[in-house]
Amino acid sequence: MPLKLEPVSEKFVALVRGVDLREPLSGEDRDAIVAACDTYGVLVFPDQLLSKEELVAFGNSFGEVDTTLQKKLMHRIQNRLGMDTVTDISNVDAEGNVAGAEHWQTITTVGNRFWHSDGSYKDLPIRYSILNAVTAVGYGGETQYADLRAAYDSLDDVTRELIAEKVGIFWSHNTRDWLHIPDSEEERSAFPKVKWPLVRTHPGSGRKVLWCDSKVYAIEGMSIPEGRALTHELIEHIGQREHVYSHKWKPGDVVMADNRCTVHRGRRFIHSERREMRRVETVDDVHSLGPA
Ligand code: OGA
Ligand code: MN
Repeated sequence: MPLKLEPVSEKFVALVRGVDLREPLSGEDRDAIVAACDTYGVLVFPDQLLSKEELVAFGNSFGEVDTTLQKKLMHRIQNRLGMDTVTDISNVDAEGNVAGAEHWQTITTVGNRFWHSDGSYKDLPIRYSILNAVTAVGYGGETQYADLRAAYDSLDDVTRELIAEKVGIFWSHNTRDWLHIPDSEEERSAFPKVKWPLVRTHPGSGRKVLWCDSKVYAIEGMSIPEGRALTHELIEHIGQREHVYSHKWKPGDVVMADNRCTVHRGRRFIHSERREMRRVETVDDVHSLGPA
C-alpha cells in the first residue's frame, strides 16, 4: 500500500497512513516523508506500536540520532530505557512506577511545558523530533505544535522590521532557571549560550520563520528588559490558536516534527496518570552564529 497523506490543514500538519514504521523504510517512503515534513512541518503516524529499537531505526533514516542531552543531563536522573539514543520523557521512575509530582524525573520534564524548538540552545540543534506514546493520559497531556512560518507571515510590518536583523541569545537553562530547577553549575554550563538570528529561512519550504522560543535569554542590541518583553510578546504571538495544532495522544501514535519551522510544548496532566512517552531526535547540520 502506498504511503497516504491526509493534511489537517493546507500547510500545517498531515496524518500519514500506509506505512509500517517497524519495517525499514523504502527509499521512496523516506523521501515522501521528508517532502511531507518540508511542507507540513508536523506528521502524525497513528497506530505504530514500536519497540525502542524500531523507533531509533526510524529516526536514523533521517540522520544521526542525538545522544548529547541524555549523556549530559538525563542519565544522571535515571536510565530506565538503557539507551543514549532514546530519551525517556515519561513520568515513570526507574522501577517502572508512576513518578509523582515531586520526583526528579517529573520535575526535569516541566521545562517541556514552555514553547520551544528542541535544541534551539545548541550550536547544532535538532532537525526532527520523533515522539512515540506508549500510554496516554485521560486529562490533558497534549503536545501542541506551532507553525513558525505562519507566525512570521502574520507579524505586523513594524514588528517584522524591528526583528529583521536581530540576534537572540539562546540558553538551555533559561526556563530551568526560571522554574528554579536546582541544577549544578556544571549542568548549567553544559551547553554554552549561542546566538541565532530571530528570522531564519526554512530550507524545506523556502519560507521565513520566526525563530524565537522560551530559551531566548536576551536580544542583542536591546536592554535585557526590552529584549525579554519582546521575546514574551513574540512567543505569545507564535502560540495563537491559528498557528497551533494540539495533539491528543493515543498509545502507538508517532509524531514527527521539523524543529526548523515549528515549536512545541507539552500540556499539563494529572500526575497520578501514567504518561509513558519516548523521544528520538536527529541532529541538524546548520550551525548557530556562534557562542554568545
Ligand atoms: C520533548 C517535549 C513534550 C511533551 O520531549 O522534547 O517537548 O508533550 N515533550 O512531552
Ligand atoms: Mn521538546
